[in-house]
Amino acid sequence: MGALILDGKKTAAEMRGEMTAEVAQLKAVHHLVPGLSVVLVGDHPASVSYVTAKQKAADETGIYSEEHRRPADFSEEDLLKLVDQLNHDPKVHGILVQLPLPKHIDENKVLNAIDPDKDVDGFHPVNVGKLMIGEPGFLPCTPHGVQKLLVRNGFDPSGKHVVVVGRSNIVGKPVANILLQKKAEANATVTICHTGTKDIAFFTRQADILIVAAGHPNAVTADMVKDGVVVIDVGVNRVEDATREKGFRLVGDVDFDGIKPKAAAITPVPGGVGPMTITMLLFNTIESAKRHNKMSE
Ligand code: GUN
Repeated sequence: MGALILDGKKTAAEMRGEMTAEVAQLKAVHHLVPGLSVVLVGDHPASVSYVTAKQKAADETGIYSEEHRRPADFSEEDLLKLVDQLNHDPKVHGILVQLPLPKHIDENKVLNAIDPDKDVDGFHPVNVGKLMIGEPGFLPCTPHGVQKLLVRNGFDPSGKHVVVVGRSNIVGKPVANILLQKKAEANATVTICHTGTKDIAFFTRQADILIVAAGHPNAVTADMVKDGVVVIDVGVNRVEDATREKGFRLVGDVDFDGIKPKAAAITPVPGGVGPMTITMLLFNTIESAKRHNKMSE
């Protein structure tokens, strides 16, 4: 059986097309321009390229975007002041402080300072709590993107056994919580495996849908999955590759080539979950603009 390749670029492009039309309508009918403010402290190369990609995607969708780039020695106090200023700026509906922050800054303090109603990353404890109890808030972008990628490609998680490998606050825990809610596009039976799990393969073999965010290559191999599984690989790892210009290539957390013949569907890396993450950031920014203008709950 040849697995369906779950094409995140295609799904993301479809969603961005819909959002571009929605933003145009919000402008034309309501004179409302959704606004996103991205804060970057320092010049970590991966962070610079993420931030650039986020702004480009916002611009293409018609969302107003602004970047606040500050030097690596920017103080925590000044960063908190900047966040406060953005919290009160009416043209800004979404605030994203790019992580990781330099060591001298307390990340939690900064994330907690963002107005939960502008927290388009979905990292503020208020939004984490709302997710737990099923109230509308902002869902974190990568796990929300995983849900949309599944549903839009015909793999509704309802009634399925979803096994998540990894318990991080940005992927494992929230994706498990999103998919177990008693709601449409969710309603799954969810198991979470992690480094403390004694026999991960015992659980992964039971998965109808397997979501892997373990943080290292080959965390899941072909012997660990059943025939017909749907695999979502959230991992992004650099492995040395002398044949590539940059000297490395990107791989996910699962053995893609080994698992593909057994799977019903599988995401590639790159081109799977990655393009969905930024798409959901745009989605949250539009949603926030509508909420601030009482056009949504
Ligand atoms: N760094 C890597 N991914 C993310 C993300 O989704 N949001 C933020 N704020 N920082 C990140």
